[in-house]
Amino acid sequence: MLQFDVVTIFPAMFDAVAEAGVIGRARDKGIYQLVAWNPRDFAQNAYRTVDDRPYGGGPGMVMMAKPLGRAMAAARQRQKSAGVPKPRAIHLTPQGRSLSHELVMDLAGQQGLVLLAGRYEGVDERVMREIDDQISIGDYVLSGGELAAMVLIDCIVRQLPGVLGDAESATQDSFVNGLLDCPHYTRPEAYEGQKVPPVLLSGNHADISRWRLKQALGRTWQRRPDLLAKRVLSEDERRLLEEFKQELSGA
Ligand code: ADE
Repeated sequence: MLQFDVVTIFPAMFDAVAEAGVIGRARDKGIYQLVAWNPRDFAQNAYRTVDDRPYGGGPGMVMMAKPLGRAMAAARQRQKSAGVPKPRAIHLTPQGRSLSHELVMDLAGQQGLVLLAGRYEGVDERVMREIDDQISIGDYVLSGGELAAMVLIDCIVRQLPGVLGDAESATQDSFVNGLLDCPHYTRPEAYEGQKVPPVLLSGNHADISRWRLKQALGRTWQRRPDLLAKRVLSEDERRLLEEFKQELSGA
């Protein structure tokens, strides 16, 4: 069972993860466990203060080291009791390295993760001694690390064995083979004058596979040329992409 501990001043936000779809079901099945720790419970005054003004001045508040450090220690202790002596501690921050499919797969192989979700303008730098990894979910700024932590939990959990059935399998997802996913269609065969590509109705599985790969290559070329640049194409794939380009210019 993968153990998550989250340090956050908004533990209730994480109820959303437990309730939604396959990820909620995975928790019920005992595939992972998630415990949230509120630094306010580790604050030192009656106001449960967890933030203070930054040294050197400037706007915004900074999350104080002590309540965070204590909450992190409680999280680590719980991981230890759950059989994870060395959980990986991750700070969610726009200054971290970018989350990718490869990083998700790496994290899905861990036994336990402690996630630190900061608020305000930032976190006292001295807490970083507790942190193994800093991760960003994209080049934009959220009001706090909670949504980023939930993104991380969602994409990790769906990779764990037993979470997705065969029908929902993650093996066909975008990024798994370095390409975007192909387009999908379901009934009816015609919708507002738009027809389903005939090959998908042909019953010829080899043709359907080739069409899907061609569309995946074409879409990736159109929308994410950076992904194609990182990937070596086989002779067959190169041919399919050429076909895609020709069909596009012919259309
Ligand atoms: N906290 C605020 N913005 C974030 C981002 N883009 N990624 C991770 N954590 C964040």
